[in-house]
Amino acid sequence: MKNKLIVMAIVTCLVSCGGSRKEVYKDPEAPVKERVEDLLGRMTLEEKVGQMNQFVGLEHIKANSAVMTEEELKNNTANAFYPGITDKEVAAWTEQGLIGSFLHVLTIEEANYLQSLAMKSRLQIPIIFGIDAIHGNANAPGNTVYPTNINLACSFDTLMAYRIARETAKEMRAMNMHWTFNPNVEVARDARWGRVGETFGEDPYLVTRMGVQSVKGYQGSLDSKEDVLACIKHFVGGSEPINGTNGSPADLSERTLREVFFPPFEAGVKAGAMSLMTAHNELNGVPCHSNEWLMADVLRGEWNFPGFVVSDWGSVGEIAKHRMAKDNKDAGRLAAIAGCDMDMHSMTYAKHLVDLVNEGEVDIALIDDAVRRILTKKFELGLFDDPYCYNNRAKEIEDKKIVTANRKIAREAGSSSIVLLKNESALPIAATARRIALVGPLNKAHKDMLGNWSALGKAEDVITVYDGLRAALPHAEITYIEGYDLETNELKVLPKLTGYDVIIVSVGERAMDSGEAKSKVDINVDANQQRMVKEIKEATQKPVITLVMGGRPLIFSQMEPYTDAILFTWWLGTEAGNAIADVLTGKYNPSAKLPMTFPRNVGQCPLYYNHKSTGRAWAPNNPWVSGYMDESVLPAYAFGYGLSYTTFDIAAPALIKQQYKSGEYIILTTMVKNTGSYSGKETIQLYLQDVVSSLTRPVLELCGIKQVELAPGEIEEVKFILSTEELGFFNAEKKFVTEPGEFKLFVGNSSDNLKAVSFELIEK
Ligand code: BGC
Repeated sequence: MKNKLIVMAIVTCLVSCGGSRKEVYKDPEAPVKERVEDLLGRMTLEEKVGQMNQFVGLEHIKANSAVMTEEELKNNTANAFYPGITDKEVAAWTEQGLIGSFLHVLTIEEANYLQSLAMKSRLQIPIIFGIDAIHGNANAPGNTVYPTNINLACSFDTLMAYRIARETAKEMRAMNMHWTFNPNVEVARDARWGRVGETFGEDPYLVTRMGVQSVKGYQGSLDSKEDVLACIKHFVGGSEPINGTNGSPADLSERTLREVFFPPFEAGVKAGAMSLMTAHNELNGVPCHSNEWLMADVLRGEWNFPGFVVSDWGSVGEIAKHRMAKDNKDAGRLAAIAGCDMDMHSMTYAKHLVDLVNEGEVDIALIDDAVRRILTKKFELGLFDDPYCYNNRAKEIEDKKIVTANRKIAREAGSSSIVLLKNESALPIAATARRIALVGPLNKAHKDMLGNWSALGKAEDVITVYDGLRAALPHAEITYIEGYDLETNELKVLPKLTGYDVIIVSVGERAMDSGEAKSKVDINVDANQQRMVKEIKEATQKPVITLVMGGRPLIFSQMEPYTDAILFTWWLGTEAGNAIADVLTGKYNPSAKLPMTFPRNVGQCPLYYNHKSTGRAWAPNNPWVSGYMDESVLPAYAFGYGLSYTTFDIAAPALIKQQYKSGEYIILTTMVKNTGSYSGKETIQLYLQDVVSSLTRPVLELCGIKQVELAPGEIEEVKFILSTEELGFFNAEKKFVTEPGEFKLFVGNSSDNLKAVSFELIEK
């Protein structure tokens, strides 16, 4: 008995006196699992909860505090400020090991400084820095700003998504950033929603593929100093907001969730995404941040997600505002129990989680699990072995070598993501064009080209349309005319536009008019801007080319008849002007396709191609949906639509056989011919239709993408291989099944330009 007591005393001492035991967690050779468990065993409850807190950086707090009054400093929760708390306190907590993560840290110096504070803490647990590197690490200075996510989706080029994520990861690590809050894999179904430009559009298949490649690009194999954690977000449902506004409550059936909104998240998890961000909105009556079904049952239970969940900005605290928690403490309890591992910015965990555990409201085992998940990633990223960043990479980036190489990628990604919506022989600009008028302030805009999430992208790094065109056409005389005021949209007096060979007009919204909290009830291009296009055409009768810029689908039917060509550019980043000039001059033959349906009237929203059929099939030209009294049901431009300077003929699809048993592969072929006079790239799209099913299914579902590059006259066979598994859907029992019966497959170059073939799925 005496011996037993002595052994127990030694064990107790080893646990509580931590330091005297071999510090396995500091041994780089030890397996990560052992390091995590060793460290966890040494941590106090306070230190554990510290790992679950994410704060904004000290400089961010200081900058915001500087412009606030005493009163605001005490009470204001806006602008990233913690009421009543100073940057000095946040620094002290870091030294005490009570903060595990920071966001909005924008310089390597600050990142290294915060790490040095963390290194003063008892256990020296490094900080993990998160940042919104959405299209390049553009919230921080000096990095390449790539085209936005929706641009990438237009290219339908998943390899490009991978390359950009890869390069972004390198640029991030060079400034000691470890974790990007991207990709946004929400399926965006409403053009009014301000955030569609951050997404890959409306189709689950395309979003899934873009998201998976982004995750792989960011993370690599998560074992080098060039890899960062990806964060798939926002889980889930906010991208079909009931009134178009950000964060509005989502009421979506489980079947819709599983068929439309979940697939990109599930695929992201399978691709290895190691963090996930929950959405601001509630889902079917439960805020996503306290949604146990989402985090525990689906994410961890069904998909075996091994990574950690971070809340969205302030949203743990907001559970009380949803009126599901009685106060802030209760909100923290619900979020922790539901499985939200890290509290971004709301300070709810920092204030209440220790008490909640001590009072028996939250099980310590839940805290241990959360901390285990966070620490595992810190170990895997190598932060324990070297928390600082002073490598040559940063220097190389400074020397612009990396940025120069990456700008080439940005230019390529840009030109392949500009969608040609109309072309009546106006493009490419004739080599003989000598006098070109460039009308509209967006032609000389810098910051706007960068799009949102680019707060510190440098305006002076941007190639404007004017710069790009001048470089591309050195012998042409290019005259810039402002045309209208970008802020007020008032028209300026136009000079007489005589003697020009071609007139290029830029219209659209400012970059700051789309993004988070930038939803709109009116997505028309401003009426004055559209009137200007009409007046220019009527006055000159010269070819008028319109560049439409924006972060969401826009409507421009008023000016459409008066313009000979339309290019929709979205926001192209630092290489905007070069990418646009490449397309205008034909150096790049446009190949992009719309990843979202463009409505003709905002009243049609939400409008997406993969809608259900209706029994009331009386609308003219469209057998599937009922109509409006005052507007066509058809979109202005369909999902998948986009022209080229050449033309392609896609032959009727052929199948090797007409009957398949489940488990077999369906092989479909079609011949694609370049029938025009330019070399070009075409995106062949494969869509599926289940002719009769036990529950209704969409009229069309994208299930294959192939890209071919053909010279004039060239023909290529394109082959799609589909497993019968891919024909499935969720039935009334919520089971994923394939039902025997007739199916149709469609191929074409737009969801409204398709040729069909049928086959039958038979019982085994
Ligand atoms: C956004 C997130 C973003 C976070 C941090 C939130 O408001 O919804 O997408 O990652 O802020 O900036």
